Amino acid sequence: ATASEPYDVVVIGGGPGGYVAAIKAAQLGLRTACVEKRGALGGTCLNVGCIPSKAMLNNSHLYHQAQHDFARRGIDEIVATVSLNLPKMLEAKTNAVTGLTKGIELLFKQNKVDYIKGSASFLSSTRLSISAISGAAENTPTEVEAKNIIIATGSEVSPFPGGAITIDEQQIVSSTGALELKEVPKKMVVIGGGIIGLEMGSVWSRLGAEVTVVEFLGAIGGAGIDEEVAKSFQRILGKQGLKFKLNTKVLSAEKKDGKVYLQAEAVKDGKQETLEADVVLVAVGRRPYTEGLNIEAAGVEMDNRGRVVIDDQFTTSQKNIKCIGDVTFGPMLAHKAEEEGIAAVEFIKSGHGHVNYAAIPSVVYTHPEVSWVGKTEQELKAEGVKYKVGKFSFAANSRAKTNLDTEGFVKILTEAETDRILGAHIIGPNAGEMIAEAVLALEYGASSEDVARTTHAHPTLSEAFKEAAMAASSKPIHM
Ligand code: FAD
Ligand code: NAI
Repeated sequence: ATASEPYDVVVIGGGPGGYVAAIKAAQLGLRTACVEKRGALGGTCLNVGCIPSKAMLNNSHLYHQAQHDFARRGIDEIVATVSLNLPKMLEAKTNAVTGLTKGIELLFKQNKVDYIKGSASFLSSTRLSISAISGAAENTPTEVEAKNIIIATGSEVSPFPGGAITIDEQQIVSSTGALELKEVPKKMVVIGGGIIGLEMGSVWSRLGAEVTVVEFLGAIGGAGIDEEVAKSFQRILGKQGLKFKLNTKVLSAEKKDGKVYLQAEAVKDGKQETLEADVVLVAVGRRPYTEGLNIEAAGVEMDNRGRVVIDDQFTTSQKNIKCIGDVTFGPMLAHKAEEEGIAAVEFIKSGHGHVNYAAIPSVVYTHPEVSWVGKTEQELKAEGVKYKVGKFSFAANSRAKTNLDTEGFVKILTEAETDRILGAHIIGPNAGEMIAEAVLALEYGASSEDVARTTHAHPTLSEAFKEAAMAASSKPIHM
């Protein structure tokens, strides 16, 4: 087949949504291409998001542990000699990224997905013009025709409202610049106490920066976090050295004499103050990205927040065009984009697909990690649902004790009448791995008694999850 023949599916964007959709489509026997303009596959997540941030989180944690946590474990000598080789740490991060993005190229080859290195722009609802990027193959088509198109163009950093702060990626950085700082800043101010602010704030705090997080709301952790967890999270991060200014809104920034001066205002009484920083991280959210897509030519509707409007089968206002991931509704998470990619392709192939939006986990990869799925206590109260709470603390978990890593708890929320699990909220070591059990429980409509009666290996952290389920349905043994 030549590129001038219509593809069954062309995916625009090679992020977690787009590349997974493309592979799945090819696996289902559809002739598929994926257009990506970044020069690498994997999108925001692999190149400047999930993956590089987790590399920095893991290695900065080890560094911090070597400095502040090894001595009490009986590992003495290393403490005096431990030092930071930041270029090497950044290189380790880059290697993780490159290995994984190249891996997707290989998966494309294995699955016979045509990887088109270029920028796609709609000519009509079935035709795209392709402007090749440097490094693209000689025979890169200038136009492609497709029976089905999937928009998976993702998101970009939200600029500061009103243009009051300009990101230069050196001194005033977004998450992208914060993954590339060439030296550890003395003072760092993070604007926004959401997930990016807390993850990247933790990285630089562990590496030696004095970090202050300024958050407009009265709690940290961003949308969907349980209030009790958020409070505990803030206390724990505070002990690690992060400072917080809640209920405070940053208004503007001024660069002077090598420093940045931020103007901030208390939300309650409007009292203003100036904050000084060497580096400022702007982490006030992300927005859908459709620049250069010429979406109007396809007749695809967007809402007033720039999101592509879709129905419950991911179909846009054009019936042969679907849309998934950050550029449409829902949480901006890689695994959500991936699930949508698979379901959207299944709809194209067979008319059936499914994503359970009630069971999409969230994880903050700090230490301890924070994770949750399903309803928060606040949501259940607001909905008037009668619920029970089962809680178990890691201080009473044997594995956490052996690891000297006992901060945090598991909290399981169940429907009072049926014992069905409605939500789970974890702050603690490995919370990001442990939440998978809660997701499975929700997916299968498990009761807390179901989980409580399931054997969990001993000694594992996941026993805390079982004991929280016991606490919800009867009584825990170890607390
Ligand atoms: P994207 O990953 O944004 O991919 C879209 C791709 O489309 C881009 O590569 C872009 O170049 C390409 N593109 C756009 N327009 C065109 C065009 N016209 N032609 C060709 N190509 C085009 N999520 C998690 O679940 N876990 C995490 O730990 C996590 N950590 C994060 C950390 C940071 C610092 C950031 C910024 C984000 C993080 N996220 C995380 C969010 C996650 O990165 C996104 O939810 C995910 O990447 C969305 O996938 P997507 O496929 O919708 O879009
Ligand atoms: P966010 O929306 O999570 O948090 C932004 C925070 O900034 C909010 O709490 C908001 O109240 C605050 N804020 C906004 N304007 C402010 C101002 N002027 N002054 C002070 N505070 C202000 O956005 P964030 O952290 O930028 O992350 C973007 C997205 O990236 C998230 O929605 C998340 O989906 C994704 N992400 C996911 C990760 C994960 O899953 N581990 C990691 C990093 C990002």
